[in-house]
Amino acid sequence: MNIQFTRQPSLFRLLFVFAVFTFFNLTTVSGQLVPNGSSNAKIGSFVDSILVKMTLEEKLGQLNQYRWVWGENEEPIRQQYREYIKEGKIGSFLGIFGVESTRELQRIAVEESRLGIPLLLAFDVIHGFRTIFPVPLAESASWEPANAEKSARIAAIEAAASGLHWTFAPMVDITHDPRWGRIIEGAGEDPYLGSQMAAARVRGFQGQDLAASNTVLACAKHFVAYGAAEGGRDYNTADISERSLREIYLPPFQSVINSDVATVMASFNEIGGVPMHANGWLINDVMRREWGFNGLVISDFTGVMELLHHGIAADSTQAGINAISAGVDIDMVSNIYLTKLKQAIEKKELPIAIVDEAVRRVLKLKYRAGLFEDPYRYQDTNREKQLLLHSDHLKASREVARQSIVLLKNENQILPLNNNIQSIAVIGALATDGRSSLGSWHGAGRSEEAITVLQGIRDALPGCAIKFAEGYTTPQSQDKTRFAKAVEIAQQSEAVILVLGESGAMSGEASNRSTLDLPGVQQDLAQEIHKTGKPLVVVLMNGRPLSINWLDQNVPAILETWFLGSQMGHAVADVLVGHYNPGGKLPVTFPRSVGQIPIYYNHKNTGRPPDKDIVWTSKYIDIDWTPLYPFGYGLSYTTFAYKNLNLNKNQMVKTDTLDVSVEVHNTGKVDGDEVVQLYIQDEVGSVTRPVKQLRNFKRIHLRAGEMKRVSFKISAEDLQFYNIAMKNVVEPGFFKVYVGGNSVDLLEKRFELVATK
Ligand code: NOJ
Repeated sequence: MNIQFTRQPSLFRLLFVFAVFTFFNLTTVSGQLVPNGSSNAKIGSFVDSILVKMTLEEKLGQLNQYRWVWGENEEPIRQQYREYIKEGKIGSFLGIFGVESTRELQRIAVEESRLGIPLLLAFDVIHGFRTIFPVPLAESASWEPANAEKSARIAAIEAAASGLHWTFAPMVDITHDPRWGRIIEGAGEDPYLGSQMAAARVRGFQGQDLAASNTVLACAKHFVAYGAAEGGRDYNTADISERSLREIYLPPFQSVINSDVATVMASFNEIGGVPMHANGWLINDVMRREWGFNGLVISDFTGVMELLHHGIAADSTQAGINAISAGVDIDMVSNIYLTKLKQAIEKKELPIAIVDEAVRRVLKLKYRAGLFEDPYRYQDTNREKQLLLHSDHLKASREVARQSIVLLKNENQILPLNNNIQSIAVIGALATDGRSSLGSWHGAGRSEEAITVLQGIRDALPGCAIKFAEGYTTPQSQDKTRFAKAVEIAQQSEAVILVLGESGAMSGEASNRSTLDLPGVQQDLAQEIHKTGKPLVVVLMNGRPLSINWLDQNVPAILETWFLGSQMGHAVADVLVGHYNPGGKLPVTFPRSVGQIPIYYNHKNTGRPPDKDIVWTSKYIDIDWTPLYPFGYGLSYTTFAYKNLNLNKNQMVKTDTLDVSVEVHNTGKVDGDEVVQLYIQDEVGSVTRPVKQLRNFKRIHLRAGEMKRVSFKISAEDLQFYNIAMKNVVEPGFFKVYVGGNSVDLLEKRFELVATK
């Protein structure tokens, strides 16, 4: 159904503006309305004063989001959108940026629509806008929330300078399945690390003041359990218990809601028969009522329409009713709220109060973004010119990138490269692949602006003869015709840097894999290069854990460099030549084989924990049950020793805190960073508890030979879990505390939580 809109005479608009102006004692800035005050009550009354003036069509328009189109042949669609804006049929856009383009749309909304309500303009700014930072999985490998905050801050500065108000980030989905392509967008497998990184990203995007012209509204996504898709197939069903939800998938959302995230996006999956776009229990009951979230929920792209495919709505009207009743306020591109809900309300199939509440949330968001005060505050051409790809941003990107690199292996300290090295063979097409360096979801980043690995090495070693051969055409190619040239330059050089992995497009949305092996003929290439006997360093570029057993067994040095963004090549070279000592740690377990999935460190013990000498235990007959590289693992050019783990007492009550400290010694010859990790195990509970759970961590810097005592506090909050009645409780009993540099090599102590009367 196509809804007809009547344009109101401009006199009406003037009267409305006058009424609001008088009522709220507004002042003007550049001729725009300036609401006076920001208390919740003030915002509420301001919003209500607009709501009473709105027609049903205009209300539904605020709940309708379209994607902007850029194609040469799409001018008719753009023209249609401009008309719709005038008619009040669009409240927000996604997929648009640039001061010029956004200003034009905002002008139409503010100056040509009846009520002059500004638009919200959104874009997927995931790990940088124009200056691209490491993909979120990589950034989490830095185990430094300050990095996530910094990169999100800079992303917000650039995005806001380019006319944007809203980003669909951070993605806070936890996953146990590296086949799932979107593992790259999150923090990995752990809810605690994930929660810390998620909250930091929200702080970075939103800053102190959402109305400032250098902040953007954040959107935590995808609510919820999107990372639990069966088989690692994007969009697939998640069938998980409420316990898994509450212990694994919900915590990062709760963490960002505590950090005042402005918006949340619903996920494509269903849980236990209820698609998330119709899941009133999780959205309205848990997130809004139980946790007190009072922001806005947006659908994912066509998520409302997909309720038809899920088979819980017979037609679009029903899909729209289901979604908005479940608490999904904005319909992203399904075009269902706009076209179907009017009839549903008229037929009394949907209470108008539900629509009004959703519209209030949209208007509040616009208010919080400062758009009623100055709808053009994000449209400043000079700022856009000055800030995009600013040298400070590039510097920060390089720093975060260096901190995100994980050294997986370094036999005989083959790295860093000897600084007298005269010749190097760089092999692998990924070494010159700017597009892949940026990773998936690279915003407005440009491939040609990315420093590739080859470029970075050349810049770092100007006096060294560097030869390059592709080795393979693309990571997935089966073509071996380039091997010969690669072997030839390897033979002519003192050492080889072999760049292997996945292309940037092999992870991200809808980019799932059924194997975690190196794609194409890359392992064959590695074997050929290995035969030359030259010192060999593998630089991995990839968006997920890979099962690289052959490399692990045969190649002396392996660097996990993920996709590091605009400054990738410089960051990798900094580490290769020893200008930077790598200190990243894996935020996700690397399996030996895809068949081990799900494999994650905080698993349950089972009734028959694996034992190599006992047949009837939980393991495989054809492969070890342990990971190739465990969660939290990563080496350094120096070595660290942990000593004297100390608890200040061995009993505590619920209201106490326990002080834990440990000595960390840099026992090697160079300065370096170490991520000190603290895990807890509840030995006996009324429901089973994981073998260990990360509860704190600190990335510290130690000079060669230096020792630091690192301290943590444990409080009842760290010991809580959901009991059989799904109540968050702390139960008396014994707990183990583990501290160390990864989830396996740990010092251990024990304490008791005693009941208070
Ligand atoms: C679909 C993705 O699932 C979501 O993460 C993204 O924000 C939207 N598309 C908009 O691009």
